[in-house]
Amino acid sequence: MSLNIPTPHINANKGDFAKTVLMPGDPLRAKYIAETYLENPKQVNSVRNVLGYTGFYKGAPVSVMASGMGMPSISIYSYELFEGYGVENIIRIGTAGALNKDLKIGDVVVGMGASTNSSFIKENGFSGLSTIADYGILSTLCDVARSRGTTLNVGNLFSTDIFYGDSNFAEKWSSVGVLAVEMEAAALYFNAAKLGKKSLAICTVSDNLVTGEVSSAEERQTAFNEMMLLALETAVKLNKQA
Ligand code: HPA
Repeated sequence: MSLNIPTPHINANKGDFAKTVLMPGDPLRAKYIAETYLENPKQVNSVRNVLGYTGFYKGAPVSVMASGMGMPSISIYSYELFEGYGVENIIRIGTAGALNKDLKIGDVVVGMGASTNSSFIKENGFSGLSTIADYGILSTLCDVARSRGTTLNVGNLFSTDIFYGDSNFAEKWSSVGVLAVEMEAAALYFNAAKLGKKSLAICTVSDNLVTGEVSSAEERQTAFNEMMLLALETAVKLNKQA
């Protein structure tokens, strides 16, 4: 590992993070997950209130830490987790805007790949690289979803740097089959690829940019809970793998 700890943005000690870290965007989501789902959660990061915790789920060590919003933010935290703390797997658990008319609020979208309008990959010297999820994590998640009877929508995500901008982009990216728009996956996938690590982005649909459907807070929470259980069960299985 090439980064000394504590790192600039994480004040945890060596060994504080599990092999797999789940990353919601919101620090209070990380706290909620730790307190709701993990046994013996211990807070391991507090820098900038980007809360991070490690605990156990069904006996397996699992960490959860916020990524913040956008590619610059997730690229900092994922880099420091991978390179400073020896984390092997990062699973983003977020929300996305659907670009496919058949997707409903609460549906689960998984990024087999992540296209982007960000210059992050180009500026790292790899313009044109296809940023893709780790197949092992993806196939493990598919096994978990099948056993839970949960439908996954697996395909391309569009990781954008622009939340408030030209709304025509939805039609454009939809026309080449992209399932949903979010703001982090491509940078996470790039960092994992560059550092020889593994990552996957799972998102629940919070709104549909084609049909105009918008979710209620309750719908968002219910969908989030199912995504959370999918991610935790996947982390348990990854922990059993070498
Ligand atoms: N744009 C970017 N990210 C998002 C959106 C969106 O419309 N909805 C949920 N995450």
